[in-house]
Parts: sequence; C-alpha cells; structure tokens
Amino acid sequence: MMAIVTISQKGKDQEVAKANEVAKLLQLPYVARNGLSLPRLQAQHEGEDILIVSKQGPKLYTGEGKAHEFHLSMAQLRIIAYDRGQRDHLIGALGSEPLHSWLDCTAGLGSDSLLVAYARPEISRLVALEGNPLLAYITNYGCRHFTHKSEVVTQALRRIQVCAMRYETFLQQASTNSFDMVYFDPMFEVPVKESPQFLSLRGYVLATSMTETMLKEAKRVARNRVIIKERPFSSVFQTWEPSYIEGGTYSNVAYGVYKV
Ligand SMILES: C[S@@+](CC[C@H](N)C(=O)[O-])C[C@H]1O[C@@H](n2cnc3c(N)ncnc32)[C@H](O)[C@@H]1O
Repeated sequence: MMAIVTISQKGKDQEVAKANEVAKLLQLPYVARNGLSLPRLQAQHEGEDILIVSKQGPKLYTGEGKAHEFHLSMAQLRIIAYDRGQRDHLIGALGSEPLHSWLDCTAGLGSDSLLVAYARPEISRLVALEGNPLLAYITNYGCRHFTHKSEVVTQALRRIQVCAMRYETFLQQASTNSFDMVYFDPMFEVPVKESPQFLSLRGYVLATSMTETMLKEAKRVARNRVIIKERPFSSVFQTWEPSYIEGGTYSNVAYGVYKV
C-alpha cells in the first residue's frame, strides 16, 4: 500500500513540521499541500491515499467520501445503552471472571476495545493490534488525545495501547497464556448494511479470513477464552464450533466464545 502525508488546506508551518515527523515515522513521502483540494492532490499522485496532518488531528483520505478521522463510532451509543443497564453482547461474552488483560487482534476504530475498557475497569493491559498502519496511527491518536465529556470514557480510551502490527506476527511471538482473552473482529463475510461507520473504509482495511492456525495460536495465547465476532450464520462458526454463541439468532452480530 502506498500513501502520502500532507497538511490541511490552510495549514501553517507548524503542521508542516508535524507532517514531516509523521511521514518519517510511517516511512511515507511528505508532499507539500500548496492549497490543493484532496481530489486534485490525489490525482497528481496516482490515486494514492492521503494522510492529512492537521491541528485537529490526523485524517485519512482514500478518495471515497469524507476523510476518516477518529470518532467514537457506535461505541458512543453502546456506552449509553450499557449505562442504562442494557445488555451489550460483547460485554456479555466476556463472562464473569475478573480480567487483567485483553488482546484485540483487529482494532479498527477501537470501538469494541473501548467498550471492554469502559465496562471492565479492572483490566490493566489492553493491547489492540491494527494491521493497516495508517488506520493504526489514527486510532492510536484518538486513544491518546480524544477527550470525551465523561472523564471515565476518556480514561478508558487512554488505557488502550494500539500497535500497528498484523496479528499473525504478534500471536506467533506471544507467550502461552499471556492474555486473559484474545478477540477477533475480522471484516464480516457478509457486511451489515446498517453499519455505516466502516463503509467508507471497507475495501481499504485489511480483510483477513480466520484460519485454523490462527485460532489455535489465539487459544494458546489466551488463558481464559477466545472471542470471534461474526454474523450468526457465518461459516466461521460452522467450521469451528464455539463453546457457545452470545448474541445469536435475533441479532445482526454474534460473538463466538471459545473457552480454553
Ligand atoms: C471490522 S474491523 C474491526 C472493527 C473494530 N472491532 C472496532 O470496534 O472498531 C477489522 C479491522 O481489522 C484489521 N485487520 C484485518 N486483518 C488483520 C490482521 N491480520 N492483523 C491486524 N489487523 C487486521 C482491518 O484493517 C480492520 O481495521
């Protein structure tokens, strides 16, 4: 994947310095913005994705729709519902044992890990892996800088450590039983229509299918359970039958729990 780094349309010298720093970190070329619109800039650079560094934080422009910047996505509504005492199926899938560590293999926008961090303040180590380095940069930025009106939500975000790494690499190097739980939310085989937050990034983020080897590795690394999020009728749950499914029949999404 190729991409370029630039600043906002009216960005000043400060942004140029920051953008150069980010370009170096991500090993991508820095390109002067010269006040150009994103479509024009992209046309001049063979359609490459553009990471825009601005005072408000980084944004990712892929050419489709609006540039992506960090936001709480569905996590905002889920937190409100959870606070009202409604059951969140992911939180339900965690079971009732106290937890100390959580490995999210597919961080994306970080929404699921935020819910977990929020609902389980006792978890002290939350690691979230994202294989797309640009998305990892943006999600990490949000976890470090986004301020929510609720201090508790802000603190939950701050506990998430985002790593720009593919889970295959991480799992193979991780020690046995080194996390209480290991979580996967790959792109659904069949997308949920009502899930707009990922639509602009679909086709852009990595689509990795679950494999026997990775499930085995995840079970080795997890002390308590592995959780996979998929559609209830997904072939993943048919191929590898979970200990039980949380969510299920009447829900759009299901969490397959594999006890270890
Ligand atoms: C459906 S999204 C996850 C959404 C996330 N659960 C959330 O709440 O925002 C899947 C993400 O996993 C990432 N991904 C896919 N395969 C991966 C891999 N092998 N290693 C690391 N990340 C991967 C994709 O780039 C994408 O951002």
